Amino acid sequence: MHTVSIAIRALTKSYGALTALDSFDLEVEQGTIFGLLGPNGAGKTTLIRILTTLMRQSSGDAFIEGLDIQRYGCEIRSMIGVVSQENSLDRYLTARENLELHARLHGMEKQLYKRRIDELLELMGLAGRQKDFPDTFSGGMQRRLVIARALVHQPRVLFLDEPTTGLDPQSRRAVWEYVRSLAGSMTIFLTTHYLEEAEQLCDRIAIMDHGRLIALGSIQELKDRLSGATVYEIEFTGQGAAHYAALLASMPCVLDVTQVGHKVTVTLECWECLSEIVTALNGAPVRRISLQERTLEDVFISLTGQKVRE
Ligand SMILES: Nc1ncnc2c1ncn2[C@@H]1O[C@H](COP(=O)(O)OP(=O)(O)OP(=O)(O)O)[C@@H](O)[C@H]1O
Ligand SMILES: [Mg+2]
Repeated sequence: MHTVSIAIRALTKSYGALTALDSFDLEVEQGTIFGLLGPNGAGKTTLIRILTTLMRQSSGDAFIEGLDIQRYGCEIRSMIGVVSQENSLDRYLTARENLELHARLHGMEKQLYKRRIDELLELMGLAGRQKDFPDTFSGGMQRRLVIARALVHQPRVLFLDEPTTGLDPQSRRAVWEYVRSLAGSMTIFLTTHYLEEAEQLCDRIAIMDHGRLIALGSIQELKDRLSGATVYEIEFTGQGAAHYAALLASMPCVLDVTQVGHKVTVTLECWECLSEIVTALNGAPVRRISLQERTLEDVFISLTGQKVRE
């Protein structure tokens, strides 16, 4: 039996005339890493702010570990960790003091939080800078400190709103590794614009746009939902490309052909058509035929469109 950690039912939030969250439904299983994707302004931060009790919904319900967010704000705040989209550190406290304040606000004993903070500072590569003030940190170091702070009290549910934005590739990978190591022991709900991050980390993914859920599933399920068409790239040696591009374009199982130099990209109705293509290319100066794998980015763009959001 799977236990639900986060349950969201018909959750709606309006800012005046704007409906930022529109009758949103979702369930997240305990101990999994769940990724919420969506273009700028889709409503991701709005949803996280409501789930973390920083803001009230206009209507609908949500439950964290079975507790109604409208009635059990206090209990929920004590068992969740939050990394908000913007770094919210106390600039008049050192890095270490920021973590200690958080521990004390959560009622932790000194001998317990001292060890925990040592561990987290080490892990996030900040041990050497713990006596410095956040203003003297780079953006990435501040982000790592915010992540460390969210983990001090060992939350059961961790909300990460774009956790790795602004991090260099090394730090991003370190955060991924750490988040992965936490999976199982807590539920992790994250938003990201890095589709590679979602692929690397998430058990399941939701894509939202204009306040609505538009797709939900594992990464493989979402990729499989794209049309059955498969795309191959055929690379020719020498001059044959234009001739064979025209030949391929005339075949009924070929949906689309584009040619750039020696490379021809063909979109086939289905993968079974490949053998017809290979037959047609018999004797052609082919150097390589490669399958163009569908990426999560293809899925994202096909569902949310090409247009840039205001
Ligand atoms: N306090 C607010 N008052 C009025 N409108 C708001 C407020 N906060 C957010 N909005 C609007 O609600 C919509 C959803 O915003 P939200 O911040 O939830 O998006 P997001 O998915 O987190 O986007 P991003 O990827 O850019 O962080 C946007 O149209 C935004 O302009
Ligand atoms: Mg946001």
